[in-house]
Amino acid sequence: MMNNDVLETPSRYGLTAILLHWLVALLIGAAFALGVVMVDIPGLTPTKLRYFSWHKWLGVSVLALAALRLLWRWWRGVPPAVDMPRWQQQASAIGHALLYVLMFAVPLSGYFYSLAAGVPVVYFGVWPLPVLMEADPVLKPVLKQLHITLVYTMLVIIAVHLLAALKHHFIDRDGVLKRMLP
Ligand code: HEM
Repeated sequence: MMNNDVLETPSRYGLTAILLHWLVALLIGAAFALGVVMVDIPGLTPTKLRYFSWHKWLGVSVLALAALRLLWRWWRGVPPAVDMPRWQQQASAIGHALLYVLMFAVPLSGYFYSLAAGVPVVYFGVWPLPVLMEADPVLKPVLKQLHITLVYTMLVIIAVHLLAALKHHFIDRDGVLKRMLP
């Protein structure tokens, strides 16, 4: 992996990776909160429809930024793991890989669910996104369940990710959290 001293020093993440990390964290939190709130609104009110749109825009933004993050990671690399047991290094690598997979799988399942329901996604109400499949009443409930299952899987892994970061910060005091802060 390439490491350029200007943006990425060997011991910590660069500013771009840090900004992308916290922006994606914020957008996932917002998409999740809105998702939970919107599905609980009874009937088909204008507010509910607006929340559905916002939810989709947030989710599509997560997808685009996840792609950017992955490209950035391949280009710039990541700082080497701090001194910790081998099983923790492996657990961290698996956890991060799963988070990347879910940053794609969660928005994509929502996107295809929306298409299966016959509702094309118009990003920010301006840019129509590709209609990659026809409305499909058979796939619709399957994709809905897939979206929900993947979302709650992601929630569990994010919780572990968060607890690990806090353990490194407050118990191990090894600077792992600080290298993801500006
Ligand atoms: C990181 C991205 C995303 C997160 C965290 C997320 C999260 C959620 C959550 C928590 C729910 C409520 C699930 C429940 O019933 O408990 C939901 C529902 C939904 N999501 Fe997403 N979502 C994301 C991306 C997307 C995208 C990109 C789309 C479409 C373009 C989408 C479309 C939907 C739809 C249509 C529902 C309503 C399901 C129903 O009919 O009950 N989501 N999402």
